[in-house]
Amino acid sequence: MDLKDHIRGIPDFPKPGIMFLDISTLLRHGAAWRSAMARLADIIRPYKPDMLAGIESRGFLVAAPLALELGLGFVMLRKPRKLPGLTIGLNYALEYGTDRIEMQADAVKKGDRVVVLDDLLATGGTLAAGISLLRQAGAEVPCAATLIELSFLNGRARLDVPFESLMTYDS
Ligand code: PRP
Ligand code: MG
Repeated sequence: MDLKDHIRGIPDFPKPGIMFLDISTLLRHGAAWRSAMARLADIIRPYKPDMLAGIESRGFLVAAPLALELGLGFVMLRKPRKLPGLTIGLNYALEYGTDRIEMQADAVKKGDRVVVLDDLLATGGTLAAGISLLRQAGAEVPCAATLIELSFLNGRARLDVPFESLMTYDS
């Protein structure tokens, strides 16, 4: 099965000139969705994670089912002011402006190996922030992974861990 057959490009979203790669059609197709998770599980398993983390919101759609598939726990990296209890956070730069992600301070144990997941790698700013935040919490990050990589934006150059993806788009 070619997983790209289940990804749809929607032009001019969210802004004119941007081709939005929509994973909704993959999620709607049970067999394709299951296949994507099984393939990602095979790629991630050798990194021997103790836990998986997903970045709100579409990263949750990847990390949570993958954690089930691998029999691991799942940690949420969330948009600001969503998590109860003691949190730690990290501001990061976007093309215009800044964003912030947060996690619960007690979510990982020191030295836990936590693989961080998202749906898509574009500039890499979001995943780089996720890696930094997990380290701030005491985790080791052996790998970051997504369903889709926009290789023409070279986001993987911003990551200082091995990066894996299921589908690459070079334009
Ligand atoms: C999108 C996508 C990644 C991020 C990739 O999230 O889901 O998280 O952008 O971009 P980057 O590599 O340039 O940082 P978005 O902010 O649209 O939010 P969502 O996941 O909540 O839809
Ligand atoms: Mg996202």
